[in-house]
Amino acid sequence: MCGIVGYIGNEQAKDILIKGLQKLEYRGYDSAGIALVGNSGIELYKEKGRIASLEDAINKDASGTTGIGHTRWATHGAPSKENAHPHQSVSERYTLVHNGVIENYQQLKKEYLHDVTLASETDTEVIVQLVEAFSQKGESTEEAFRHTLSLLHGSYAIALIDNADNDTIYVGKNKSPLLVGLGDGVNVVASDAMAMLHITKEFIEIMDEEIVVVTKDNVQVKTLDGKSVTRHSFTTDIDESDTEKGTYNHFMLKEVDEQPFVMRNIVQKYQNDDGDIKLDGDIRSAINDADRLYIIAAGTSYHAGLVGKEMMEKVAKKPVEVHIASEFLYNQPLLSEKPLFIFISQSGETADCRGVLVNVKKNGYKSLTITNVPGSTLSREADFTLHTYAGPEIAVASTKAYTAQMAVFSILAMDSARAQGIDTDFDAIQELSLIANAMETLCDQKDVMEQIARDYLFETRSCFFIGRGMDYHVVMEGSLKLKEISYIQAEGFAGGELKHGTIALIEDGTPVVAVTTQKHVNLNIRGNVQEVVARGANACIISTETTKQDGDQIVLPDIHELMTPLLSVIPLQLIAYYAALHRGCDVDKPRNLAKSVTVE
Ligand code: AGP
Ligand code: GLU
Repeated sequence: MCGIVGYIGNEQAKDILIKGLQKLEYRGYDSAGIALVGNSGIELYKEKGRIASLEDAINKDASGTTGIGHTRWATHGAPSKENAHPHQSVSERYTLVHNGVIENYQQLKKEYLHDVTLASETDTEVIVQLVEAFSQKGESTEEAFRHTLSLLHGSYAIALIDNADNDTIYVGKNKSPLLVGLGDGVNVVASDAMAMLHITKEFIEIMDEEIVVVTKDNVQVKTLDGKSVTRHSFTTDIDESDTEKGTYNHFMLKEVDEQPFVMRNIVQKYQNDDGDIKLDGDIRSAINDADRLYIIAAGTSYHAGLVGKEMMEKVAKKPVEVHIASEFLYNQPLLSEKPLFIFISQSGETADCRGVLVNVKKNGYKSLTITNVPGSTLSREADFTLHTYAGPEIAVASTKAYTAQMAVFSILAMDSARAQGIDTDFDAIQELSLIANAMETLCDQKDVMEQIARDYLFETRSCFFIGRGMDYHVVMEGSLKLKEISYIQAEGFAGGELKHGTIALIEDGTPVVAVTTQKHVNLNIRGNVQEVVARGANACIISTETTKQDGDQIVLPDIHELMTPLLSVIPLQLIAYYAALHRGCDVDKPRNLAKSVTVE
């Protein structure tokens, strides 16, 4: 959620920070700010709204070779200029940016800051005021910073600068992501490596409850009680050009179009020279030794998990439960004797998932993270990681990460079946290659999808999606796509469930998108379509060569029935895209949403 950047070096920090913030825009935010320290002291700029407004507000001559920047996604206090970060201490000596939530900020205010009048409504401001309060009692800045962090309950990624010593940035983290990037005579701070690829590709991770003292020539990692920690750096393989839009107007469309490539990439990464599946033996054993798999995820990743369950159960005969992370966290079901927890997360940072992972580890259970960001929190903290190789996904609406997650599950299912000696004709590798080609054909039919968006969704307030079995899972994803970017109220239903209440909402012209790729329920879902059409619905049917009937709007090529969501979701993604576009919505950065949801 939101983001932090920091720069300390010999160049002017302003443009570097702005570029970094622009790279973090995809994460979602409502206001932004930067602070620069140079010889003439500190300069602070913040604005509500887009980074472009912040840029306009910054003095052209603003200077400073040290600086921090922030995009805020408000949790405490309205999105406003006053609540935007950076925040300053009363004397303005300390300036700080923060991502996360400080749960005990009111107690801290009462206990330590009763004589301080806060300038904002944020939980964050307490942090910077505490640093000043402790430094006024004689603590060095580093001591005051560590002291403050040791009192905080909640999640934080923090960067702090001290006006009295502009050669240092103090950073710290707990639960929220933050990295330090290493350069030659320059060091940077970023919530995500993508933000600072224009400076370096070498980064170090910061663990929870650690601080890092960053100067332009040195970084020192320490625990909150001041003990030095050795940390090796890693080089990220993200290519800066992957984070650019190129000739596309929106990242979402670019990412939809990248799906055939992602499928081929996954096939390549998960196959060895003999054509066999390449999988870490420990992961294979963890899956096969478990008596039940518990998939934990949120949003689109949860929808991928529902499909993953079908694959694992039908192909590998493994019992699977799929849980919404935020529900599981506070309402854990009865577990089997030997569970394996599988976290699916594009970002690898979702706080709800992480909350579950912390408990899972406490209880000594094994865990596997399937993520698009190796090195992310969930990846680091789980026992095993599987990479989805989708490349950076920037649009808030997840597209290629979703199909990549399902693709990885198909490989796991096939591998597990083979390892258990189960006789199956399911060949994930072959299917994924077919799917890549079929995806290409679908992506070439953008005019068809655009027309459907115009015909069905141009003016409507709501839209229903129906499907059965695998199609039910994919319509839930289709409806999420549509609602999150076009703001049309959309719901995905099991076809047979509609008549148990929801059909009351169908009126003349209500769009109903039906997906029917499963032969054994084709006639059932068509019956459900008749029920809504009889009540005035405007039905749009997506079928396959096997299930098609005259008049269907989109017919997909035949692939294995367990794999159809990888294909049927493409029209749903594109229809959502064009609906949002034609309704004038900000496709890549929908309101109120963040790409990486790092608060519970
Ligand atoms: C997807 O379009 C959504 N923006 C959202 O549901 C997302 O999938 C969810 O927040 C989970 O994120 P993760 O995969 O990074 O954990
Ligand atoms: N809780 C802080 C606020 O509301 C930080 C939010 C964020 O992570 O951007 O200002």
